[in-house]
Amino acid sequence: MNILILSCGTRNKIVQYFKKELNGVGLVLATDCSNLAPALYEADHHFIVPRIDDANYLDNIIAICKEYNVKALFSLIDTELSLIAEHKEHFLSIGTFPIVSDSDVTEMCFNKFKMYRFLVDNGFQTIKSYVEKELFYQDIVNGKITYPVFIKPVTGSASINIHRVNSKEEVELLFNYHQNLMIQEYMDGIEFGADVYIDLINGEPISIFTKEKIAMRAGETDKSVSVKDEKLFQLITDFVKVAGFKGMIDIDIFKIDGEYYISEVNPRFGGGYPHAYESGVNFPKLIIDNLKGKVNSNKIGQYDEGIYMMKYNEVLVSRI
Ligand SMILES: Nc1ncnc2c1ncn2[C@@H]1O[C@H](COP(=O)(O)OP(=O)(O)O)[C@@H](O)[C@H]1O
Ligand SMILES: [Mg+2]
Repeated sequence: MNILILSCGTRNKIVQYFKKELNGVGLVLATDCSNLAPALYEADHHFIVPRIDDANYLDNIIAICKEYNVKALFSLIDTELSLIAEHKEHFLSIGTFPIVSDSDVTEMCFNKFKMYRFLVDNGFQTIKSYVEKELFYQDIVNGKITYPVFIKPVTGSASINIHRVNSKEEVELLFNYHQNLMIQEYMDGIEFGADVYIDLINGEPISIFTKEKIAMRAGETDKSVSVKDEKLFQLITDFVKVAGFKGMIDIDIFKIDGEYYISEVNPRFGGGYPHAYESGVNFPKLIIDNLKGKVNSNKIGQYDEGIYMMKYNEVLVSRI
C-alpha cells in the first residue's frame, strides 16, 4: 500500500508518521518542486516535480502514481487541494484514492469570505466579516461594529499580511495597497485548533483533537495544550457534517465569553497535527484502515487533556 505525499515541504513528521504506521507494508513517496524540501529525504522515494501551476504538473503526478502503484495521495498545501479535488475521477480511474474533500468544499475553504457566508447561512456562530469597505463604514456609523478590527487577505494563508486596525485611515491605506482583503471584527479571546478526521467510507467525523493555542509563529501553532469540551466536540461534529468534509482537516476556532466562533478551515493536515499524533490521535492509522476497506469506529476525544506541545527547530544535513 504505497502512499504519496504531495508538496511535502518541511512536514518531516507527517512522512515519519506514515512510515511508522505503514510499518513496511507500503512505501511512503513524497514530492516537492524544490530539492531543498527536507521532508523529501524522509520518504522511501522522493521526486522533484514541476510547480503546481505548471502545465505538466498533473501528468508528472499521474506518472508517479502509475509507476509506483500508489494507493492514495494527499497534499500538504492549500493551493493544491482544489487541483487534486477537481481531478478526483482521473486519479480514481488509475486506482489512486485522492484523500481530499470535494472541490466545492476545498474552494470554499480557500476563500474565507465564502466560508463566512456558509457559516452564517447554516446558523453557525462566526466572525462578522466584510469585503466591501463601504458596508463596513456604514456599520461603524450604525454601531454594529467597532474598532479595532482585523484585516486579512480573503485567500490568505500562513498569517501573511494580517493586521489589527484601529482607524479608517489604516483601512484605506491597506485597501489602497492590497487587493482582495476582508475586514473582520477583532476576536479578543482564546484561539483553539481542532484536528478532525472524517471517515473516508461512511463520511462521519470519527476523531477530534482540540487544543488551545498558546503561541503562534510564522502562521503555525508553536505552543499549544490539549483540551476537551463536549460542547466544542458537538459544534465541530455538526459543522463538519453540514459542510461535507472528507479525510483530515484542521479548524480554527475562537472562544469569547464562553461562546465558540468558527473562523476558518484548512482541509488538510494542519501544521499543528504532531500535537494530536503524539497524544495518541493517529490519523495515518485511520487512513490506512480506510484504505483497507475498514470503517473506523468513533474515537472522538480519546486523548488526555493538559498535554503540551512545544515546537523546536531541527536540521537535515545531507548530500542531495
Ligand atoms: N478576526 C480576527 N481577530 C483576531 N485575530 C484574528 C482574526 N482572524 C485571524 N486572526 C489571527 O490571525 C491568524 C491567521 O488568520 P487565519 O484567518 O487563521 O488565516 P491563515 O491561517 O490562513 O493565515 C489566526 O490564527 C489568528 O491568530
Ligand atoms: Mg488559520
